[in-house]
Amino acid sequence: MNNQPPRQTLARLPTPLEPLRRLSKKYKKNIWIKRDDLSETAMSGNKIRKLEYIVAEAQQNDSDVLVTWGALQSNHCRATALVAAKLGLRSHLILRGDPPQEADGNLLIDQIVNSEITYSTPEIYNMMDDSYYELENSYRKKGLKTFRIPVGGSDETGLWGYIKCAEELAIDFSTSGFHPEAMICATGSGGTLGGLIIGNEIHQLDTEVFGVNVCDDRQYFENKIKTDFDLWTRKYKCLEEKPSLPINIIEGYVGQGYGKATPPVFETIREVAQLEGILLDPVYTAKAFHGMISEINNGCLASFQDILFVHTGGIFGIFPQRKGFFNL
Ligand SMILES: Cc1ncc(COP(=O)(O)O)c(C=O)c1O
Repeated sequence: MNNQPPRQTLARLPTPLEPLRRLSKKYKKNIWIKRDDLSETAMSGNKIRKLEYIVAEAQQNDSDVLVTWGALQSNHCRATALVAAKLGLRSHLILRGDPPQEADGNLLIDQIVNSEITYSTPEIYNMMDDSYYELENSYRKKGLKTFRIPVGGSDETGLWGYIKCAEELAIDFSTSGFHPEAMICATGSGGTLGGLIIGNEIHQLDTEVFGVNVCDDRQYFENKIKTDFDLWTRKYKCLEEKPSLPINIIEGYVGQGYGKATPPVFETIREVAQLEGILLDPVYTAKAFHGMISEINNGCLASFQDILFVHTGGIFGIFPQRKGFFNL
């Protein structure tokens, strides 16, 4: 495909595509999984695919410091910190929340990598432009150039990560003989779903793509993904004649909010671990998996027989929520 931006190879690709045999039997569907949790070890998950394109742009700009935002337990921030270290760059993370007495999960890794961390109140966190310009200035005075990466790496450049994944899936489908009618992923900032929707069109996967939102709501993600599509079309001049691509958000599984998992989500983690030997996380993938099973049982996925779950990683998010497993 023409007009593709540069890419810095970081992930271990292709990731495996596997059947979930016991879960398929239990739920009377053919459920397969794309193991993007295996895209790397510490840098694992969906974010590394987006960062391959984002960081290539940062390198083109001769940047020294990757600046990004997220929750205290952000997988995206952890992946950014590790990627920066791997490439000999610095990272500066603006994290929403107070510094805990003892770091755990992703935050522990951010600290081990020695990423610069600014802990921020929700009000200041939302003033991203102001905080970025301040940081940009202070680094400039030290002779360092910053590069701004949006929350979750979801922008027109990051979209390429999952457009590329769709290309990989086209090969997976033809070698495995599994052609899903529906494909599902967790949606937190929209870039994974957005990339899969465009990739589904470009690489003719001929599947319906769904995202289970783990925060915000359907309207928010429809707007966000549409905006990213428009920016992408303008910047890369691809699919300019694009039909209006469907953005299917499955709502109803946020629970009490971002990062807050209900007992059925922890039960889902146990079930998938016990039946398939695969770990999901309580913030993203288990919420989405729980949503998928609920919709298979009684909802918008009931009519599909062959279903693919895209495992987007997040394993380090299990540990800070260990108490959830004992409240069942
Ligand atoms: C493990 C994991 N899965 C899914 C998502 C959601 O992906 P996206 O932000 O592209 O919607 C994220 C990040 O937000 C994540 O860290």
